[in-house]
Amino acid sequence: MKKIGVGLIGTGFMGKCHAMAYGAVGTVFGEVPVLERMALSDADPAVAAQKAKEFGFARAVADWRELIADPAVSLVSITTPNGLHREMAIAALSAGKHVWCEKPMALTLADAEAMAAAALAAPAQVTALGYAYLRNPALQHARQIIASGEIGEVFDFRGSVDEDYMADPNLPWSWRLKSSEAGLGTLGDLTCHLVSLTHELMGEIASLCAMTDVVHRERPLPGNLDGRGLVENDDVAHALVRFRSGARGVLASSRIAHGRNNGLRVEVHGSKGALWLDNERMNELNLYLADGPPARRGFRRILSGPQHPGYGVFCPAPGHGLGFNELKVAELAEILNAVAGRPNRAIGFAPGLRIERVIHAFAQSVREATWVRLAS
Ligand SMILES: NC(=O)c1ccc[n+]([C@@H]2O[C@H](COP(=O)([O-])OP(=O)(O)OC[C@H]3O[C@@H](n4cnc5c(N)ncnc54)[C@H](O)[C@@H]3O)[C@@H](O)[C@H]2O)c1
Repeated sequence: MKKIGVGLIGTGFMGKCHAMAYGAVGTVFGEVPVLERMALSDADPAVAAQKAKEFGFARAVADWRELIADPAVSLVSITTPNGLHREMAIAALSAGKHVWCEKPMALTLADAEAMAAAALAAPAQVTALGYAYLRNPALQHARQIIASGEIGEVFDFRGSVDEDYMADPNLPWSWRLKSSEAGLGTLGDLTCHLVSLTHELMGEIASLCAMTDVVHRERPLPGNLDGRGLVENDDVAHALVRFRSGARGVLASSRIAHGRNNGLRVEVHGSKGALWLDNERMNELNLYLADGPPARRGFRRILSGPQHPGYGVFCPAPGHGLGFNELKVAELAEILNAVAGRPNRAIGFAPGLRIERVIHAFAQSVREATWVRLAS
């Protein structure tokens, strides 16, 4: 099988996740192309040199453009802040590379559209976005249950994503809170994950009516605790949604929800049953079937195991559990399937743009104080 040279841009939280996935994917999935970790770059050259050693990359380069120009690199990971995604992704596609870019796609909808157009103009190259929660076996089992009709006609959806990384009002101001540098707030950071799961279980959203708020409007300036910096992007975002199927739902997101660390939760109501799952207990699916004697009814808790999609390749024993980093390995396996021309479920820039349109529709709905229809 052909070898694939890999280049990694960024070595922070997601950079390390991508590096771990490159190291593990062959061990876990076996029949994948051999990956050669060729080059890595970071804003800080000293960090890049250190991380190249730790992550097993052949060399560190000072400028990401050098990495993209390297003929030995054919797959580029982009794990830098959102504002750099557009320039890096389009440069990589123009140089003939496959691209694995973290979410959200970009700061603005226009930037995301430009990335999707560049992907469309390079049909031989694979693009993929970092929506690894879609690879959760419990979620995929939920999708199978819904598709089989077991919970009947699906008519209602509840989705929420809550974290508390900005919950303390005294956390210092940073560029992440400035629209021109970070783009959307909770919507870009968290709601896009929720929308990816929502699309997976319910199909696309046809229209929505949103409300967003900055709750903590000022934060202390770093290094000058008497100074105050304005928070420009959303702390919380809520919406009523109508699906193309005719079903309805509610989405809620917060980055200031005390006590929630990865509270990505979805609940689906059907005419014959219901199901829900929560990423803080990501190896559990809760299923209710409206059958049997009423006295015995209730939600059953199903632990993920090898009988569920995507679990057995990691672990033969049920209930032992997969984590976030395993889902990134599974995400990479889908990308390598796409590169090899095999069936795959990688989220390319085109489906990614549909997610991006939804989070920007929240912002539009708030600006215009009205329902927003999403183009099909
Ligand atoms: N899929 C997920 O679940 C998930 C989780 C967290 C973050 N993310 C996304 O991943 C991206 C990065 O987030 P993070 O938490 O890893 O951030 P981070 O701050 O931990 O890492 C960013 C890295 O990019 C590097 N960088 C910045 N400018 C650079 C440049 N010009 N050239 C090369 N490297 C540069 C930084 O030095 C750092 O190593 C964001 O888009 C974020 O939304 C996705």
